[in-house]
This record gives sequence, structure tokens and C-alpha cells, in this order.
Amino acid sequence: MQPAPAVTVRVPAKVNVQLAVGGPRPDGFHDLANVFLAVGLYDHVTARPADTGAPELTCEGPGSEDVPLDGTNLAARAAVILAEHHGLKPAVRLHIAKDIPVAGGMAGGSADAAGALLACDALWGTRTPRDVLLGLCARLGSDVPFSLVGGAALGRGRGEQLTELPVGGTFHWVFALADGGLSTPAVYRECDRLRGPAPVPEPEPHPALLAALAAGDPHALAAALPHANDLQPAALSLRPPLADTLDAGLRGGALAGLVSGSGPTVAFLTADAGAARTLAGTLAASGTCRTARATTAPAPGATTIVSHA
Ligand code: C5P
Repeated sequence: MQPAPAVTVRVPAKVNVQLAVGGPRPDGFHDLANVFLAVGLYDHVTARPADTGAPELTCEGPGSEDVPLDGTNLAARAAVILAEHHGLKPAVRLHIAKDIPVAGGMAGGSADAAGALLACDALWGTRTPRDVLLGLCARLGSDVPFSLVGGAALGRGRGEQLTELPVGGTFHWVFALADGGLSTPAVYRECDRLRGPAPVPEPEPHPALLAALAAGDPHALAAALPHANDLQPAALSLRPPLADTLDAGLRGGALAGLVSGSGPTVAFLTADAGAARTLAGTLAASGTCRTARATTAPAPGATTIVSHA
């Protein structure tokens, strides 16, 4: 018997090793110098054919009860804009198996959107050129293009204009996962509020940080990480206990720690795989986070891993 037609795409989470945030723009966004690094925590998005006129969505995994299953879900919107682009009906059943923390500052929703685009493109045989896919990703959200490409990249504009960055080795990270999420718009608003009316300098990438990435040197990268995330004071202001998580990681032997994106996940860089495993255990037992995960970076972007068509 032929297997049921299905396409499964694996998509990585990200950490922002630098997130330099400019002042608010007239359109409500902020210009960024956003150094994205894809990390080895993955969601899986599976697309199957359906007879309906709108995407049907199911979701499993930690935090999936907080994922909307209607047309507002970024994965459903991805299917709709790809179908519109090709003059098709968005007839698809999408299943998301989550491992990226929901509303955790690791681009989980963006990953699902990039995964849905790639899975639907394969399921429908639409063979959309890469540059068109990247344009659709940018319409879906600032972080979605990076979820498609993975690796490491500098994001300018609102984060959607990507330049690939060289990475000279494997970095070992531990992520302290929090209970509950943080709203990205709320964190940006808090950042603006904390800064007050003073003019904000143009966000620029940190040369020492890019050099550390290119060299694959965790000690040099760690030296550049403190204060690299302009959203960190805002995330700490909205979620003060994250300071305890940061303390626990640093006391537990991390080379450096920072809030991941808009939080509330906290990211710790370690010297090697053994240090990461030990720190994950220490953090999980610290009572300052829900759980902790050790993983490596860079990770590849959205990748089709099962395709029966
Ligand atoms: O682009 P995305 O939909 O992921 O952005 C979510 C929200 O985060 C935006 O509505 C905006 O409030 C904020 N944001 C921002 N500047 C950026 C990216 C996101 O203010 N560069």
C-alpha cells in the first residue's frame, strides 16, 4: 500500500546573540541589528492533503494548549499566502509537533510558519523559487526568513533583511525554559518605555561578536554577550524572576548568559558539550526554570525530512 501523502519539515529555534534595537519607527516596528543563530531545538510541521477551503491545524507538545488553531496561527497564514500566490485553495491539514518553547523568544511561531511554507510547497508541487519563498516569509513576520535559512545571519531592517554570517565551529548552549511566555510586542513597548524620549543610536552589529562567531571561539563570544540584547532589561522588568535564572546559570558555570530574544527563555553559552550537560542538570534542579535543555549551534534551516507524495 502507498503511504498517505505527507510532507514533514523540521525547523530550528533561534537565539539572538546580538539584538541591537533602534527607536520605534512610524510603522510600529524597530530597526534592528539582529545576529541570529539557529540552535538544535526543532519543531516538525507535517502537511497532508485536505478537501477543505481553509487550513486545518492540530498541534502537540509542551505548551501546545497555548497555540491558536484558527486562521491567526502563523503556520495557517503561511499556507494561505502560498496558496494565494499560486491561485490555489489552501486545502491542507497541518500538524505541528512542538519542541521549541511557545512564546519563549526562540521564534517557535516563525519556525512553524517557515515549516508550513516549505511543506505546502512540496505537497502542492508548486516549486516556489527560494527568493519568492523568502519574500513570503518576510510578509509573515520579521523572524520567519531566518527560520527558513538557519545557520547564522545578520538581520537588518525589522530583522527580515538577511546576510549570511560565517560560523567557525560548534557552540554549546543551554536554554532555561520558563513557565508561560512573554508577548513580543509587550517587550518592545517596555523597552521603549524604559528608554524614555531620548534619541536612540542606530543599531549596529558588534564587530568583536561577529569575529568570535567566525572564529568558533566560545570564550570570545561569551565576552561579547553581556548587554548584547537590548530587549533584556525590558524582559527582566516584565518578569523579574528571570534575574534568578541568569544568576543560577552563571553560578552553575556558564561562560555567559542572556535572555533569548524577547524572552522569557534564558540562553547560556558553555565551553563544551560536557559543561552544557552539567549546567542543564544544575539549572533543571535550581527551581529557577521549568526545565533546561542542552544543545548545539549552528543548526540548519527548515529541512524536508519526510516526503511521500
Ligand atoms: O514581525 P513580527 O510579527 O514577528 O513582530 C511581532 C511584533 O514585535 C511587532 O508587531 C512589533 O510590535 C514587534 N517588533 C518590533 N520591531 C521588530 C520586530 C518586531 O517592534 N523589528
